[in-house]
Amino acid sequence: MKRRFRARNPLVPEGGGPYSRRWDTPPQRGAFIWKDTMSDLQAPAVRPANPRFSSGPCAKVPGFSLDLLADAPLGRSHRAAVGKAKLKQAIDLTRSILGVPAGYRIAIVPASDTGAVEMAMWSLLGARPVEMLAWESFGEGWVTDAVKQLKLEATVRRAPYGGIVDFGSVDFGRDVVFTWNGTTSGVRLPDGNAIPAGRAGLTICDATSAAFAMDLPWDKLDVTTFSWQKVLGGEGAHGMLILSPRAVERLETHTPAWPLPKLFRLTRGGKITEGLFEGETINTPSMLAVEDYLVALRWAQSIGGLPALISRASANAATVDEFVAARPWIENLAVDPATASTTSVCLRFTDPRIPDGAAFARAVAKRLEKAGAAFDLGAHRDAPPGLRIWCGSTVEQSDVAALMPWIDWAFHTEIAGLAKAA
Ligand SMILES: Cc1ncc(COP(=O)(O)O)c(C=O)c1O
Repeated sequence: MKRRFRARNPLVPEGGGPYSRRWDTPPQRGAFIWKDTMSDLQAPAVRPANPRFSSGPCAKVPGFSLDLLADAPLGRSHRAAVGKAKLKQAIDLTRSILGVPAGYRIAIVPASDTGAVEMAMWSLLGARPVEMLAWESFGEGWVTDAVKQLKLEATVRRAPYGGIVDFGSVDFGRDVVFTWNGTTSGVRLPDGNAIPAGRAGLTICDATSAAFAMDLPWDKLDVTTFSWQKVLGGEGAHGMLILSPRAVERLETHTPAWPLPKLFRLTRGGKITEGLFEGETINTPSMLAVEDYLVALRWAQSIGGLPALISRASANAATVDEFVAARPWIENLAVDPATASTTSVCLRFTDPRIPDGAAFARAVAKRLEKAGAAFDLGAHRDAPPGLRIWCGSTVEQSDVAALMPWIDWAFHTEIAGLAKAA
């Protein structure tokens, strides 16, 4: 069986040639035409080849097929040599593609990114005062964990949707928990410059919608988590937990004041459980999901590794930016362009003719889905109404480009419908 990806320049759409901006083109090339009535609105001629723009689970790697999973050791023990080798390979490839330093440990843990973050919080917090930083709903979820569940006296710093916490005001002498890319607001930390390398506290970073699409400064991060279902388009189920030597030191010197379920235990007899970082998982993983992650990692390698993955996401987000910049009725939710996400790009409609923003955005997303142009484009239920377009590395730029005229079409069709109803 063939199991290989064609190596190609990720920035050049299949069929070659530099990308032509379809939404600027005349009607004979499939562009949207605005006329006066709803029935006159003409849908674009071309749909995205892959209309999957969900922010998780995200689009599978280009060329994905279930045949690629044929080497999964199904029906075998994950502790048999074949299973352990696969798990170890997943850890090793993660390290090499992400450039994780040699002294850092990487484990595959249960319960996706949530499992990895909570395992870290429950195992490490309580030794020092903690700062919880939140600028959208996932960060807010970690605030709830710290304040209501662990009952820590936390300093909570929040920014509204579209903004970001001022990292300059954070005390890194404390432990600090934050999300690198706020998936529901499309606001990310532009870099780690505000985090001091010589801090006394630990930084615990939920990087699930950033890892593989954004540069992560390992010297600034003591705990980094992500799941397979995001930027590499893997399956839900398992989380990745990356620990700096300082995080390991904390694990070995700090005993939490609360009970730890078996699923969260990273130490035994006061010592780190080294096997965990060699692929000896706490409980049974899905070897099908492991195989799928390996397929995604090999694809990532084949296109040029991290720089290529980052370029793909950036080019996708730039395609949306260009579209947004040319239209007065839509804008990026991120207030500061330097913080605008290159994976979960969040947009809001600003047209004053829209009476009910939530209903309008829902209708646009539904129309796009019904037309087969884009699935799962609605903003997260906790976020301001709008669209969220996943631009992560598995998404093809040609598909993002093909989607843009469809947004024009859906927007104008809905606006025309409002006028008709009035
Ligand atoms: C920033 C962030 N944190 C945590 C999660 C939860 O991830 P999972 O469902 O993989 O546990 C998500 C999911 O979208 C997320 O975007």
